[in-house]
Amino acid sequence: MIRVSKRLNKLPHYAVNELATAKKRMLAQGVDVIDLSVGDADIPPPEIAVRTLNDALADQAMSRYSFQIGLIEFREAVARYMKRRFDVTVDPMTEVLPLIGSKNGLSHLPFAILDAGDICIIPEPGYPGYFGTYLSEAEVLPYPLEASKDFLIELDDLSEDQLERAGLVFLNYPNNPTSAIAPIDYLTRTISTCRKHDIVIAYDNPYCEMTFDGYKAPSILELPDAREVSLEFHSLSKTFCMTGWRLGWATGSAELIAALQKVKSYVDTGPFLAVQKAGAAVLDSAETLVESMQAEFARRRDAAVRSFRETGFEVEPPKATMYLWIETPAGLTSAQFAQRVLEDEAVVVLPGSALGSSGEGYFRIAMTVGADRMQQAAERIGRVLNKVRTVGAAT
Ligand SMILES: Cc1ncc(COP(=O)(O)O)c(C=O)c1O
Repeated sequence: MIRVSKRLNKLPHYAVNELATAKKRMLAQGVDVIDLSVGDADIPPPEIAVRTLNDALADQAMSRYSFQIGLIEFREAVARYMKRRFDVTVDPMTEVLPLIGSKNGLSHLPFAILDAGDICIIPEPGYPGYFGTYLSEAEVLPYPLEASKDFLIELDDLSEDQLERAGLVFLNYPNNPTSAIAPIDYLTRTISTCRKHDIVIAYDNPYCEMTFDGYKAPSILELPDAREVSLEFHSLSKTFCMTGWRLGWATGSAELIAALQKVKSYVDTGPFLAVQKAGAAVLDSAETLVESMQAEFARRRDAAVRSFRETGFEVEPPKATMYLWIETPAGLTSAQFAQRVLEDEAVVVLPGSALGSSGEGYFRIAMTVGADRMQQAAERIGRVLNKVRTVGAAT
């Protein structure tokens, strides 16, 4: 019997793997499954990405090790994008780091800056990439995101001792899974608390372009005094529907970039250069690409919200992200509800508890399919809701 490490045992269960297996099994049986579990939309990557990657493959230089420096062209495209989009100036060489998807940076940051006895605050429910912290020596302090507090992490709720020991907080707005957004005054007071207590902010911003109704999500680096204590994470996965390409970047404090780069030098050798070349081309056309992506996700959101409301769920249209965070019917845990939805109606949703125990009482749907299919999924889920309400949870 293999003995695994105590650290491995501390890692919570990664529920998404099982959902993928259950879905494969049903598909193999010929069932018409609608998968709304993972934030991976059915939209093709931008044509410019495919074309640039194709051309880059013919260039032998692209097949070499990328190392942490990566493709300078990508770093420069990131800096241009940050300037155009947020009016934030970053040095491409010292304040940008290419990542093999933002998860690559988020999950390794704790190793770079935390020691035994330090506290890392993570949102709960929250993106499982932050759970990498359990593999470090630091102590994880899950902070429950609650509707009554607009799903914000309020650092002032923590004790003086916790704030003194805290070395890192993961902030993710627009938020997965709750779709909450961060008001500017919230960011200002959070930066001030973090500066006072020497807490690094990992500002996880993969949904900054996936916004609706005129809302424009900020970069934390737009705020005065943020850079010294912040590292912001971006991703091409969601905005440009390139999840499998594995490309993102970190930007912010040069000291934090250097620390993260040092860890990564030992665990990976950077994203494929040809993918970085394609990423640079995509970022240089970001504005046009974002416009059509936003229009498509707005259609999906409107269809989903309308249909879920018609079937009896209470849902508010989110201002950002590709998620709806919906309360499960009374009498069933979120895992039981997700199981029923899968078995009875062949729709895969994410039970809130899969993102931490504070996610109990909710399920998350990702707008992975077009408006008509979203409506169909809502109708199927609505049938389960009706059954639970009329016949009871035990059926
Ligand atoms: C909040 C959040 N951060 C980071 C990521 C990871 O994105 P990437 O594909 O860039 O690793 C995700 C993906 O779902 C996410 O929801």
